[in-house]
Amino acid sequence: MKKPKVITIDGPAASGKTTVARLLAKTLGYSLLESGAFYRLVTCLLLKHNFYEDFISKKLDPKDTLEKIFSSVTVKLTPEATQIFYEGKEINHELREIQVEERVSVVAAIPEVREFITGFLRRLVDHRLVVAEGRDMGSVVFKEAELKVFLTADEQVRAERRYKEKVEKEVLHYGTVIDNLKKRDQLDSTRKVAPLTIPEEALVLDTSNLSPEEVLQKILSHLENLEKA
Ligand code: DC
Repeated sequence: MKKPKVITIDGPAASGKTTVARLLAKTLGYSLLESGAFYRLVTCLLLKHNFYEDFISKKLDPKDTLEKIFSSVTVKLTPEATQIFYEGKEINHELREIQVEERVSVVAAIPEVREFITGFLRRLVDHRLVVAEGRDMGSVVFKEAELKVFLTADEQVRAERRYKEKVEKEVLHYGTVIDNLKKRDQLDSTRKVAPLTIPEEALVLDTSNLSPEEVLQKILSHLENLEKA
């Protein structure tokens, strides 16, 4: 097998997807596609335009609204990050804000939003070499990917990782972080369209007791075996 064009990494929140995807992209010289950023972007732009409530309650036409809010969006993919620009300004930091975080799972469960983002991501990738991370990269968006990885980790470990990552930026209660994580996992795994699932043929890795570098090494040796086959 020759070098894969698309490598997918899926898994629940705080399973280590982004860290590992970035390490892998940097090692192989691929672009990093953080697909969650686009669900966050939809949420953020709906709030920015005061469309959120009407969009959720289906008072607005989903396709027209999404096309309208995305008309000023540009994206730059590097091995380090998925940089998103709105009206020429980078807005990645806004995508991490609490008002987005609290609503993104609801927005990501809307079928028209998923259809729009799926098409957008496929066009964006086109002929590039990418490491795509998310929830449905291997199962839906890039079904044809030659290498699919699925990361898992114990709920407790994931909550601790998320807490450590967040507490550096804001004062937070550990209980709130666990509750949030559980709520998001529940919504992401039970939604009707493209729920979080393990793609067939995926390399499944439990990262609870592994460092990001150890996970990277496991993926690289799997890739080497695939390439020999
Ligand atoms: O990976 P993240 O935390 O940035 O993802 C944000 C949200 O988007 C999360 O609730 C799940 C959703 N998501 C999704 O439904 N499908 C993807 N491919 C990526 C993220």
